[in-house]
Amino acid sequence: MIRVVAINSSPKMDNGNTSLILNPFLEGMKETGAEIELFYTKNLKINPCQGDFSCSLKNPGICFQKDDMQMLHPKLFEADIWVFASPLYISGFNGPMKVLIDRILTPVGEPYIGVKDGRCHHPIRENIKRGKLVLVSSCGYWEIENFDLLIAHMKEFSFHSEWEFVGALLRPHAPALKPMIRSGAPIYDIFEAAKKAGHQLIMDGKMSSETLSIVSRELLPMKEWVRGNTAN
Ligand SMILES: Cc1cc2nc3c(=O)[nH]c(=O)nc-3n(C[C@H](O)[C@H](O)[C@H](O)COP(=O)(O)O)c2cc1C
Repeated sequence: MIRVVAINSSPKMDNGNTSLILNPFLEGMKETGAEIELFYTKNLKINPCQGDFSCSLKNPGICFQKDDMQMLHPKLFEADIWVFASPLYISGFNGPMKVLIDRILTPVGEPYIGVKDGRCHHPIRENIKRGKLVLVSSCGYWEIENFDLLIAHMKEFSFHSEWEFVGALLRPHAPALKPMIRSGAPIYDIFEAAKKAGHQLIMDGKMSSETLSIVSRELLPMKEWVRGNTAN
């Protein structure tokens, strides 16, 4: 059984735009028999990393902070797939997701710095599980390039975590989704594609670029989106 840990960091949780993509994606994985655990950062108490490296140097693997990371950290490293779902804030992860991500690697990394592919990193300890990483995000601006920094950040996280980044479900001009659903616009292919990506990931170990491009497809021309969002 493939185990998935998904984290949604939208403060709007299931009422947000990110969940419109995340939830059918998880549903698709569930339908193929994967075990899904979904967490909302809003319901968790996760403090920022305090930066003392005691989880690496003094008590390897153990963070001195007693908060919900004590529960989440072991779950992450028992899972086969991690899904990080964050709204795009100032071109990156939102704060709660960044705080969570900062807490993941140091307790499982070696204290020394090694070189991999010509680059410095703290190798992840041998006995620590590796798996696959997926990014889900939604943003307000129209063009898909708004996600470029976020994707670059995920690739860096993949390099340092030694978990394979297998792709992203990205939804630009996402605030257009709900009004379009309400008006009966034909956009259900987007949610079907998110679900299909979930099927593909579990059944084939990867998601097709064709399916992912439907998730991100244009909902309306940029000019119309800009006009509709301009005050007066
Ligand atoms: C503080 C803040 C910063 C944001 N920064 C960006 C941004 O840099 N680029 C962008 O396209 N959208 C930005 N947005 C819009 C959100 O990414 C967008 O509305 C997203 O769909 C919200 O997801 P949610 O409903 O799941 O929370 C920002 C929103 C907020 C509140």
